Formats: sequence, structure tokens, C-alpha cells
Amino acid sequence: MSAQTQSVKRLTPPDIRARKGGEPLVCLTAYDAPTAKLLDPHCDFLLVGDSVGMVVHGLPNTIGVSLDMMILHGKAVMRGSDRALVCVDMPFSSYERSKEQAFDNAARVLQETGCQAVKVESGVYVADTIRYLSERAIPVVGHVGLRPQAALAEGGFKAKGRDEASRNRVIEEAIATDEAGAFAIVIEGVAEDLAQEITERVKAPTIGIGASASCDGQILVTQDMMGLFDWTPRFVKRYADLKTSMEDGVKAYAAEVRDRSFPGPDQVYKARKS
Ligand code: KIV
Repeated sequence: MSAQTQSVKRLTPPDIRARKGGEPLVCLTAYDAPTAKLLDPHCDFLLVGDSVGMVVHGLPNTIGVSLDMMILHGKAVMRGSDRALVCVDMPFSSYERSKEQAFDNAARVLQETGCQAVKVESGVYVADTIRYLSERAIPVVGHVGLRPQAALAEGGFKAKGRDEASRNRVIEEAIATDEAGAFAIVIEGVAEDLAQEITERVKAPTIGIGASASCDGQILVTQDMMGLFDWTPRFVKRYADLKTSMEDGVKAYAAEVRDRSFPGPDQVYKARKS
């Protein structure tokens, strides 16, 4: 073991797994270095989510997000953080075709970004892939319930587990994901009691979003919880009002540019006296 390996202080997949039933995991999304730096001291887990497509790139859903985009944002988040575990989403079409395709792309994400784990949306059919990756030393997080990459097929972002058939399907997904070796499982957009039941039944810690306070941790999209957008899903609580702060800032700037009070004496350089 090298000195460099010994000095690593980031949380690891086993550290996250060991939090099952313990202190809740604090998780948020991050897509860039300055935001990651701000979140890192407060979070256990930073997700470079494929929600970056909608939040940063203005896409209508996550389908148009590419592996190269995820790698670019993953590198930035790694540069900005040094404590939280960083997990990068595998985008649509990067892991579904075959286990081998998933391995090659997940290995690329780990090697090029230096992140600690990848996340896949884990319909039951993805369980074999999770097993294949986990057995080959790729730490995998699963994602069950509302799976945003299925939005086209399902006609939108639909909460899950509100009737018996849907409930059984989500339980099946979660158990398959757990048994295949995922070290944590995101549960998104499901009935509260279903999230609680899954949390009790799986060995991996569950990370809820629109799920239940009884999950082993919680995650939100940072820009949603910071109040950057007019609309958010009903499960989001706003902890700040970034939109108003930014609007106030840009209005004040525009007024000062127009009346020439910016730049003022403190913001300009003076010629040196010779
Ligand atoms: O892409 C994302 O941000 C996610 C979280 C919402 C869990 O998958």
C-alpha cells in the first residue's frame, strides 16, 4: 500500500453500506466544482446525477444525456470535493445493451473521473448487470421506483407503488438490486409505506427522494432544494431562495451598469505614478 492510498479520507462504498440503520446519509446532487466544494463538508454522498441534463443543459428529460457529459461533470465534482463519496450516474443507453457494454462504460467513468461509484436505474432486467459489475470490483448504486430514464415509455414522471401491482413491481426491483450486490439503493417517487417496507427488507442502505423519512438517507437535486426554480416536484422542500437572490443581484447589476455607477472607484485600476 502506498502512502497516497493511506492518506485517502473520502467515504468509501463500505462506509456508506455500514450506515444501514444508523445515522441517516446526507446526499445531494452536484454537477460542478464550486458547488461540490460548498456541499462536501456537509454531505456523505454527492451524486453527479443525469438530472444535469435538465437542471444545467435545459433538456426536457434525461434521455439526451451522454456518457461524455457525465464524465465532464464527474471530473469537476471530484476536483471540488475531498470527503464525500462521489457517485456518477450511468446515462440512458450506456448500460442496458449488455453486461459487457455496462462494464466498459462504468470502468471509463471510474478511470476518467476518479469517482468512487456509478448508479444505474435498476429495473429487474438490470440485476444481472449489477451482479456482473459488482463481481468485477465496480461499486454500484441501484435506483428503483420512479426511474426518470423510463419517462418516455411511461408518458412522464409517474410516482410508483400506489396500487398493488405497481407496489409488487417496485419490491421486486429493490430485492433484485439488493441481491445483485448494489451497495446502496435510491428509492424515488414511491408511496411512503412502500419505501419503509423496502428499507426493512433490503440489506443495502436506502436513499429516499420522494419516499420516506424512514429510509437510511435522503437525496434531493441541489438546485431544487435551494429554490432556483419556480416549479419543483411536491416532495421537494425549499431550504433557500436562490432564485430571488439571483434576480435581486442581476437587477441591481443591470441598474448600476445603466446609470454608470458600476464599476465604481474600488473596481477600477489606476495608472501607476511614474
Ligand atoms: O439524476 C439524479 O439527480 C438522480 C437523483 C434525483 C436521485 O437520479
